[in-house]
Amino acid sequence: MNRRDFLRLTLVVGGALSIVPLVKPVFDYMGFYYEELPSLSSKYYVASNKQGLEGFPKFKVANVSDLSGSCPVYFFAYPLTNEPCFLVDFSKLNNEKDVSFDNPYYGKFRINQSFKEISGVGPNNSICAFSDVCVHLGCQLPAQVLTSSPSNPGLNPSTSILHCPCHGSMYKLDEGGLVVGGPAPRPLPAVILEYDDSTGDIYAVGTNAPYFSEAVPRINPSSNLLYDPRYNGYSVPSNPACIKGG
Ligand code: FES
Repeated sequence: MNRRDFLRLTLVVGGALSIVPLVKPVFDYMGFYYEELPSLSSKYYVASNKQGLEGFPKFKVANVSDLSGSCPVYFFAYPLTNEPCFLVDFSKLNNEKDVSFDNPYYGKFRINQSFKEISGVGPNNSICAFSDVCVHLGCQLPAQVLTSSPSNPGLNPSTSILHCPCHGSMYKLDEGGLVVGGPAPRPLPAVILEYDDSTGDIYAVGTNAPYFSEAVPRINPSSNLLYDPRYNGYSVPSNPACIKGG
């Protein structure tokens, strides 16, 4: 091998080695990691079924009788066991019935986008559901803390505004989780519900947006979420959920 060939070989090998670290992230981004979902599904999905691997599982969240007290908030996990969400009954929160709002994500993401409007379910058409994870940097929202002042973290019953304790984002729930203050870049994702009025059962059947960001490559289901450094995990608060703030 002459000197020129040796230099060429060095360049080729050096170039190949320099792109090796990029190969896995690129494959992850292209979706190859989904192949491991079947083995992980029983651990992470609240409903382990074929449907759940193809999209969102249909999952019984609660029965209306579970919301019979005065607390307007009921927590559950969906679609993964470490993704906290909450039901909010507006007829108890701020006396609103027949609630409906425009889907702020209509046409924006690849996941189920067949609905332009999201409507409340239940006997008063007043029960909706949202993710309990702030879309700014992923802090868990204190939806169970009912406060009397918009400046206090928690959920203000009269305005239906939910405050994030980390950097002050404010989401107006009865307008579909629209951001009305703070750094959150987009509305709070809503969970799509179905209601069986013969049994009173409430089902989660999908969401209107990815909880954190569709652009974040997910190596495994739990990396679906990014954590604020102060939080090393999420939990689903126990029900009944309400804490009076003020
Ligand atoms: S994480 Fe909620 S405002 Fe920053």
